[in-house]
Amino acid sequence: MKKTIAASITLAVFALTSQTAMAGNDINAKKIFSKKCKMCHSLTRKKFGPAFKDMNKDPEVLLTTITNGRKAMPKFNKKLSSDEIAAMVSFIQSQ
Ligand code: HEC
Repeated sequence: MKKTIAASITLAVFALTSQTAMAGNDINAKKIFSKKCKMCHSLTRKKFGPAFKDMNKDPEVLLTTITNGRKAMPKFNKKLSSDEIAAMVSFIQSQ
């Protein structure tokens, strides 16, 4: 029950934030990388976290990991909009 409530709250937050993102609409994945990921990830070599080029290529896995976090990887569901997270997924896949 608690889980269901948490999930609907997460969805509601997503709906809200993605609307604001659409209004702005100029998502720059490179800039997000420099601001929010670079302290732990490099594009090409292992740092605290894996290199973007060595990551899983499954969009589901990337999306879930960025959204909900995993072990030392923080969750970004409140820090990035769903559009921004989607942009990061394609950015990682393009590496
Ligand atoms: C505080 C450090 C830290 C920050 C900041 C961080 N990460 Fe991570 N990330 C990690 C660690 C550590 C792992 C490995 C998690 C594990 O061991 O399962 C990871 C794993 C991942 C994975 C899973 C890779 C795979 O192959 O399954 C993705 C995707 C990812 N990070 C994306 C991002 C993105 C995008 C950002 C910026 C928005 C970011 N991370 C910011 C530490 C961080």
